[in-house]
Amino acid sequence: MHYAVIMAGGIGSRFWPRSRQEMPKQFLNVFGDATLIQNTVARLQGLIPPERCLIVTHERYVEQTKKQLPAVPDENILAEPISRNTAPCIAYAAVKLAERDPDATMVVLPADHVIRDVKSFHSVLNVALEKAQDPGSLVTIGIEPTYPATGYGYIQYDETAESDEDRHEALPVKTFAEKPDEQTAARFLNSGDFLWNSGMFIWRADTILSELETHLPDCYSAFQPVRPAVDTDQEKQRVAEAFQDSPRISIDYGVMEQSDRVFVVPGSFGWNDVGDWKAVFEESQRRGLDDDQGNVVPDDARVIVHDSSRCLVNSDDRLVVLVGMHDTVVVDTEDAILVCDRENAQQVKNVVDYLRSHQ
Ligand code: GDD
Ligand code: MG
Repeated sequence: MHYAVIMAGGIGSRFWPRSRQEMPKQFLNVFGDATLIQNTVARLQGLIPPERCLIVTHERYVEQTKKQLPAVPDENILAEPISRNTAPCIAYAAVKLAERDPDATMVVLPADHVIRDVKSFHSVLNVALEKAQDPGSLVTIGIEPTYPATGYGYIQYDETAESDEDRHEALPVKTFAEKPDEQTAARFLNSGDFLWNSGMFIWRADTILSELETHLPDCYSAFQPVRPAVDTDQEKQRVAEAFQDSPRISIDYGVMEQSDRVFVVPGSFGWNDVGDWKAVFEESQRRGLDDDQGNVVPDDARVIVHDSSRCLVNSDDRLVVLVGMHDTVVVDTEDAILVCDRENAQQVKNVVDYLRSHQ
């Protein structure tokens, strides 16, 4: 049986001040339709029902998760007492799923991405799911890169295996390189045989457990006691110990870079990981949410943009007025305001790091 495992424990600090520790990016309604995590579950409709979606998140977000996803059964929400990045998150979900269904296949998804063409996404996932039935195969979805991003993983696939450009196929991966420096990223981009890692993974639960045993034995063994179902208090205790004992590492560094059993299905379905306010601006423009001057502003009288162009305004209740501003991001919340050049939106993360270390 196929299951989705949605990783929803990240903080999303480049979305400050809208995204805070209490309300990270995945729980925000960024484009005025539904929150990113709600869309993540909704776009699986027809492939994986909410009863087979597991959400792994920090315990402080469990109530918010239940509120936003009433169709997901409570027992499918796995709470982490401490955040140890994505490898332990995946190990936890894999042991639970393998216990529930020894034949389980997991579609591991980030909770905070945008996908415009759901039909194409489903057909790519179906190819990945088929490949993932082969025991031992780790399958990921690759995206055609457009600039030398340093925040993504890069996948070099075996070109000789590519037979038909238009058909989705699972191609053997030669190299997986997580978050290269700028120079390396540019080299990868120019070589033309690298894809970005979309951060979505498809594999059997028993396959990823054996890969964890090989490449991250401390993480693997930390979660073994969590396997059998026990009473709630005991379970909580075991989960707490497992996270405590587990190294802090992402699945990309911990397994994907190490394994030689990785396959990639190239996909192009309008993917955007909306990593910062600039990405929100661009995605909003693509959706036609901007006005004649290219401003993306909430549709209410409390925001006035005069003689301004290509600005993004995100605000609560206060009156916000922009005069003669261009390419500027303004985010107004109850206790903090961000004013930033759109091109510098990436750097908001540095400010948040600074704030954290000085509070
Ligand atoms: N449950 C849980 N616990 N979820 C987590 C944790 C954790 O400790 N840390 C991160 N997540 C969730 C985030 O909420 C997000 O949905 C997903 O896992 C990925 O984490 P990010 O922190 O956003 O990863 P990234 O963007 O730096 O890199 C990953 O995604 C890129 C594509 O967006 C990697 O897989 C890259 O290789 C990839 O290119
Ligand atoms: Mg991310």
